[in-house]
Amino acid sequence: MDAQATYNYKVVRQFTIMTVVWGIVGMLVGVVIAAEMVWPQLGMDLPWLQFGRLRPLHTNAVIFAFGGSALFATSYYVVQRTCQTRLFGDRLAAFTFWGWTTVIVLAAITLPLGITTSKEYAELEWPIDILIAFVWIAYAVVFFGTIAKRRVPHIYVANWFYGAFILTVAVLHLVNSAALPVSLSKSYSVYPGAIDAMVQWWYGHNAVGFFLTAGFLGMMYYFVPKQAGRPIYSYRLSVVHFWALISTYMWAGPHHLHYTALPAWAQSLGMVFSLILLAPSWGGMINGIMTLSGAWHKLRTDPILKFLIVSLSFYGMSTFEGPMMSIKTVNALSHYTDWTIGHVHSGALGWVAMVSIGAVYFLIPKLFGQTQMFSIRLIDWHFWMSTIGVVLYIVAMWIAGVMQGLMWRAVNDDGTLTYSFVESLQATYPFYFVRLLGGALFFIGMLLMAYNVYKTVSGVQPEDAPVAQTA
Ligand code: HEM
Ligand code: HEM
Repeated sequence: MDAQATYNYKVVRQFTIMTVVWGIVGMLVGVVIAAEMVWPQLGMDLPWLQFGRLRPLHTNAVIFAFGGSALFATSYYVVQRTCQTRLFGDRLAAFTFWGWTTVIVLAAITLPLGITTSKEYAELEWPIDILIAFVWIAYAVVFFGTIAKRRVPHIYVANWFYGAFILTVAVLHLVNSAALPVSLSKSYSVYPGAIDAMVQWWYGHNAVGFFLTAGFLGMMYYFVPKQAGRPIYSYRLSVVHFWALISTYMWAGPHHLHYTALPAWAQSLGMVFSLILLAPSWGGMINGIMTLSGAWHKLRTDPILKFLIVSLSFYGMSTFEGPMMSIKTVNALSHYTDWTIGHVHSGALGWVAMVSIGAVYFLIPKLFGQTQMFSIRLIDWHFWMSTIGVVLYIVAMWIAGVMQGLMWRAVNDDGTLTYSFVESLQATYPFYFVRLLGGALFFIGMLLMAYNVYKTVSGVQPEDAPVAQTA
């Protein structure tokens, strides 16, 4: 068959398989650092096994390697299918795969060696940052090139979310990574003091808003209606959702810098925009969940749909919790505590990981010419292990966080502190153990997924599907 008449599934297959691989690697490191918080001696006095070095390895692996691969895979699939045309630039698409994989491997080497800019979620040093910029520009060319040569007049809403994610991440990366190199492995930010903090959390929060949210909403707007076999509940709401979300997220960053040297008005502005953000976030969540109206019974038998719908529930939960934590008086309690870690993982595990897992289960059979996954029962097991795992993780961190906040601020009548820091740490140990159990359960679920994927694809000679003929 003529190459132009088929979809480019090769690059989608590569990124989809790597989503599972990097998910396992990133979460394994998560389990290791969770174990180190229970038994610190696990670091064995080896510098590259210490919590401080493995923590950024975990965050980079789960966000950029696992989440990033899921976003590349699904955006390339969705943009081709909804534009009814082959992906623009086969070679450029292949470059994004190999370039991104190189970035991940370099991260896995440099971070344990302690080579870091020390800016959270932007730890990689300047040579790797330059490679990221090239890969990202190639990604934008492939994605928007495909939109430009689409064979249908309409641009489906999922592509709007993916497009906003790609453009915004390019701007965030270029601005926040501006640095003066002093050697191959060391650079200093070009921004001074409080301005550096402001730029960093403008980046950090929008990394959450666009990398961990907008891209995954694109995923949601394609895979939820597909798997449910229903049109999206309200297309009009999805368009309002898009514009409201992207115009609000940009201003909420200062909630990461409450009670710091940042001007008080900027902190309050961040708080107000965070509160407003609840509305578009919930608009999107409701739109996704209501897509199931008339098809609720499918939830009983379809574990892929369960992953997708439960991920939306966690999205709703974390986007209610976030605005509450951005209120300055609440943040005075929650900041520095494990409450933040609980919030992060209700978003990251509950929303990001679960929606990605649902999408991967949807994609694998289609990409490898199978009718369904090797075992539906294993997907169901995976679903329950993930759900119980997330709940154990976040409930443990919520209780630990509120307890820490209350212990740290408790004062005696004479003004001295009621508890020492070590007492609060001792009180937290049981919760760290429960978090470890939850994380391990989630991780074992990923191993089940790897086995299921392996059994579905092994021995198969995949072929690319023909491009849809009707516009
Ligand atoms: C098996 C699953 C996982 C386990 C056991 C785990 C464990 C951990 C641990 C122990 C920390 C350090 C907490 C601290 O510093 O006190 C952490 C931080 C973090 N993890 Fe995970 N994690 C998992 C999955 C994920 C996933 C899938 C994502 C993202 C998609 C993620 C994103 C993050 C982020 C962003 C942080 C930094 C939070 C902050 O700085 O506030 N994690 N994780
Ligand atoms: C309406 C939406 C949201 C708002 C207003 C919000 C607000 C907040 C606030 C106030 C904090 C604590 C800042 C601090 O005390 O240091 C926080 C931390 C965080 N949130 Fe959210 N959140 C939202 C949704 C999400 C979602 C959906 C995710 C993940 C997918 C997420 C990931 C994170 C991460 C990774 C951090 C930790 C940042 C760090 O200190 O390293 N948030 N968020």
